[in-house]
Order: sequence, then structure tokens, then C-alpha cells
Amino acid sequence: MTPDPLIAAATEVRTKAFAPFSHFQVGAAVLAEDGTIVPGCNVESASYGLTMCAERVAVFSGVARGYRCFKRIAVVTDAPTPTPPCGACRQVLWEFAPDAEVVLANLVGVVIRYTVRELIPLAFDAKQLS
Ligand code: THU
Repeated sequence: MTPDPLIAAATEVRTKAFAPFSHFQVGAAVLAEDGTIVPGCNVESASYGLTMCAERVAVFSGVARGYRCFKRIAVVTDAPTPTPPCGACRQVLWEFAPDAEVVLANLVGVVIRYTVRELIPLAFDAKQLS
């Protein structure tokens, strides 16, 4: 089977994760509408609450490159069961990738697929601010 380039990018960037406190390395990659893949890894802080998840690093890096909407995201960890995005990341995905597929994978080829819509029903967004 052809390897999924988004999973490959998330797997590669996972090795860059800065996780000296949790030792839980996460890689993510988002696919922009023009086919560009933008990677991100988790970055931890000694002030634990400042830690940034891999998914948000990927989305925010994509925004910094001028993208506003993503079609897919892959998240890769070394967990036996692939790791779903945390609540904060689901909110950000809803705002920048509402129609995206979420591909969760681990290092031994287990892959689980969801949609952002499945992961964050009844989401808060800019519509509630008007
Ligand atoms: N982490 C992510 O990168 N993404 C998630 O969706 C869940 C958690 C990171 C944050 C922290 O560095 C480590 O995993 C343990 O929580």
C-alpha cells in the first residue's frame, strides 16, 4: 500500500518533539488546500501550562505561512492506541479545519480515522460572537 505522506511527515517531525517532562513525543502534520504539508511537534515548558501541543504547532505554523484552512491532519505517537487531539486542539481544528479528516497513527501502523466534526460536536466559534 502507498504510504500516506501526511502520516510520514507527522512521524518524521515527532522526532523533533521537545518533551523532557512527559517524555511523550507527538508529531502532527496538516494538509493545506494547495497540497502543502505543514508539520508540528509538541514543545514543553518548565512552566508546564505553557506547553504547546503538536497539532496547534502545525496549525499555527500553517497560518504563519499564509494558510487559513486545512483538509486533513495526521497525529502520530508511540502509544499502542493512537492518540486523539486534546480539547484545546479540537477547538483550534474546528476553527481552521472544520471539514478535515483526522488521521491518528502510531509507529507500528495502527491507523484510526475521524472527522473534526465527530471530535467536536456543538462547537463554539465566531458565529456565537456576532
Ligand atoms: N500533547 C500533544 O502534543 N497533543 C495532544 O493532543 C495531547 C497532548 C502533548 C502535550 C504534552 O507535551 C504531552 O503530549 C503530554 O501531555
